[in-house]
Amino acid sequence: MGWDASALPDAHGRTVVVTGANAGVGYFTSEQLARAGARVVLGCRDPERAEAAVSAIRRRVPGANVEALPLDVTDRRSIDAAADALLAVERVDALVLNAGIVHPPRTRHTDEYGNELVLATNVLGHFRLVARSIPALQRTPGSRIVTLGSMASRLGRVRADDLQLERSYTAWRAYAASKIAAQVFGFELDRRLRAAGSDVQSIVVHPGYSTSGRTPGIRGVNQPSRLKRFADNLQAAWTQGKDEGAHVPVRAVLDPAIEGGDYLGPAAWTKGAPVHTPATRASRSPRLGAALWPLFERAADQPFPV
Ligand SMILES: NC(=O)c1ccc[n+]([C@@H]2O[C@H](COP(=O)([O-])OP(=O)(O)OC[C@H]3O[C@@H](n4cnc5c(N)ncnc54)[C@H](OP(=O)(O)O)[C@@H]3O)[C@@H](O)[C@H]2O)c1
Repeated sequence: MGWDASALPDAHGRTVVVTGANAGVGYFTSEQLARAGARVVLGCRDPERAEAAVSAIRRRVPGANVEALPLDVTDRRSIDAAADALLAVERVDALVLNAGIVHPPRTRHTDEYGNELVLATNVLGHFRLVARSIPALQRTPGSRIVTLGSMASRLGRVRADDLQLERSYTAWRAYAASKIAAQVFGFELDRRLRAAGSDVQSIVVHPGYSTSGRTPGIRGVNQPSRLKRFADNLQAAWTQGKDEGAHVPVRAVLDPAIEGGDYLGPAAWTKGAPVHTPATRASRSPRLGAALWPLFERAADQPFPV
């Protein structure tokens, strides 16, 4: 079924939380959902960048109902405080797990708990956040958890016996493995929610190849240099703006026809309108999901309630 990103269904009365919402795909997901009328909570780690994003949405979307929530997905105190804040709001209709490191460091870094930084940011922090805030979604009818995967999931692999890349770290491997692990998380979460008879839906999406140089300039949010614009525009044939990449998570949040376990991405793989698309077999593997889940629980120091 088609989807018109310029004519979104009315989202008044819904509350959506977006992590990593001060820039890129997360910012435009927030802006588009706010334009559709949703109350949008922008989870951001830096107060100034959060304020710039909230102000930009208010400037660009008159009457927008937006607010910032402090959230650093590599800091357990911050995650737990954010989860507590979500438990206190009346309803959470969708949680968009978008925050991520997209350009990993060349050498292996760890967070303060000893977890490899890219995995910690792209997967483990969200795992802990969902585990702690899921009661807020469970009491909101028809709620959704949307996980940002990547086409990079087609090009790498994740190893249960070296999840933290202690033996084999490269920047590229860390990114691809983290995104496969994120997709495995999203699909395993769907299986677990179904098995538990839960009404919450887990959906996985990828935004294609979306670059900041092909994205509208917004003060404090997206200010690419002229050189970046020039270089990114050379790749225009197979790239799109992050505003266009955001059409995918926005559809996953708003389209009533989408179901738990669906995988969405741009129609032409790297760009285009958001459509159903095949996920890799590894991402959907119940065996891999069952193998990684306890590793996520241990690394995030967080038993999962579903
Ligand atoms: N762009 C693409 O082509 C593409 C393709 C496939 C998948 N994706 C996925 O889409 C998501 C967004 O990508 P993007 O291109 O929009 O990236 P981006 O422009 O670099 O934005 C990343 C966002 O994540 C936030 N973030 C990073 N570390 C964080 C932390 N520890 N705690 C809280 N927030 C944190 C950043 O905040 P700061 O400003 O504070 O750093 C920023 O708001 C990522 O999950 C990425 O893997 C993107």
